[in-house]
Amino acid sequence: PQVCWLTPEQTAGKQKPFMYTQGQAVLNRSFFPCFDTPSVKCTYSATVQVPEGFTAVMSATSWEKQDDNTFVFKMAHPIPSYLIALAVGDIVSADVGPRSRVWAEPCLIEAAKKEYDGVIEEFLAVGERLFGPYVWGRYDILFMPPSFPFGGMENPCLTFVTPCLLAGDRSLADVIIHEISHSWFGNLVTNATWGEFWLNEGFTMYAQRRISTEVYGSAYTCLEAATGRALLRQHMDNTGEDHPLNKLRVVIEPGLCSVNPEDTYNETPYEKGYCFVSYLAHLVGDQSKFDAFLQAYVNRFKFQSITADDALGFFLEYFPELKEKGVDTIPGFEFDRWLNTPGWPPYLPDLSPGEQLMKPADELAELWAADSLNMEAIEAVDITAWRTYQLVYFLDQVLQRSPLPEGNVERLSRTYPKISQAQNAELRLRWCQIVLKNNLEAEYSKVKDFLHSQGKQKYTLPLYRAMWGGSESARALAMETFSATAPQLHVNVRNYVKKILGLEVTE
Ligand code: BES
Ligand code: ZN
Repeated sequence: PQVCWLTPEQTAGKQKPFMYTQGQAVLNRSFFPCFDTPSVKCTYSATVQVPEGFTAVMSATSWEKQDDNTFVFKMAHPIPSYLIALAVGDIVSADVGPRSRVWAEPCLIEAAKKEYDGVIEEFLAVGERLFGPYVWGRYDILFMPPSFPFGGMENPCLTFVTPCLLAGDRSLADVIIHEISHSWFGNLVTNATWGEFWLNEGFTMYAQRRISTEVYGSAYTCLEAATGRALLRQHMDNTGEDHPLNKLRVVIEPGLCSVNPEDTYNETPYEKGYCFVSYLAHLVGDQSKFDAFLQAYVNRFKFQSITADDALGFFLEYFPELKEKGVDTIPGFEFDRWLNTPGWPPYLPDLSPGEQLMKPADELAELWAADSLNMEAIEAVDITAWRTYQLVYFLDQVLQRSPLPEGNVERLSRTYPKISQAQNAELRLRWCQIVLKNNLEAEYSKVKDFLHSQGKQKYTLPLYRAMWGGSESARALAMETFSATAPQLHVNVRNYVKKILGLEVTE
């Protein structure tokens, strides 16, 4: 399952085949023999020979092209097995910064360069200022074929990203900032077991939003964090708050009945993890002191794999006055409760700096939910200047209020072609969710087109869940779309969709 072989039709250029690997969480064991656990780190080297006309890239600190289309790679730092990654295709590169280039198929390279030219370095520099030296040398980005199942994957030196990020306006750069943040949290300090995946993702979400606050300000960052909170809400509503995966520490034991580490990828380690790290910052009460702690944490545990107990032990050691106060056992907020009790986070960081952006969106959603529409009030709100995440937030509010009274969604669609005809993947996802929740059959083709155009897990699964939980015609749409797109989906995503549709999982 680890090595994905794509036919020319599954690429952007449709001319040549493509192959890539995706190691996280426990797939690299089917690529090469290894201790496939994040608790073990090692350096690696690889010699890869490819056919004429192809280029190989890897998550390595150095690469060299020799004769016979042979590429030699070396990773000089110890890394866990899941971060070893290879891609081969008809790919070219373009510089976007002093230590960064983008890689993409020739037909996408212009767009890729335009999207990130001159911005990556600022993210790296802010990251270094906050968390310490960037040790990996280069930070390059590879744009993957559309079926790549993730927004981004933090392979060291070479992040893999979905081509959906090519929005034309840098509006989805939060994914890049997220993957850059893993350069410290995850790739330097690594969760020792997949049961504590939140140590990678929760700290990374926190680091991502620290960088974002420095670069874009707190209003925008809080707005983005609010859309993250909405995703956590949706996830817990879907699974039930008490679901065992809604704990930060997931119990993974050997044996058939156990949780598969692949299945722990959900919003809890990300957004509940973010809340826990924010809670630690709240206990400290001073942003610069907490930033200094994060830097000390990276320095203390770099190139190691650690447990949550190691991380929290270091926190209490670093802030002895907090340890004396017993902050780890405050009733309702016990560290033990954070880790081992499923459910909604006991503490939520204050997102009020985002209010100035959220309030107009809340109010507009309220107007659209009315039984008889007040078009005068609606038309008085000018959304043309709204940024993507403000529109995303607005659409989440509309979705929460859906189904809307008869006719409102059709009207909304006509009023805002900028939304209903959007090419931006985050907007398309929300619009498709609204179409399905309101059973707007006239726009079913948008759901179909979106699912044909890409295979990201976080876009694909919510739409199949919505179709399967909807009307007869929505279910038919699900079946029809799945039979057409199944061969191009990543095997994990394909199996999750099969589960949703009640089909037999054979692989
Ligand atoms: N490391 C993850 C992707 C991943 C997680 C792959 C688990 C396999 C198993 C990556 O850093 C990630 O979190 N990507 C997010 C980015 C988002 C939170 C900004 C994604 O793909 O959506
Ligand atoms: Zn991540």
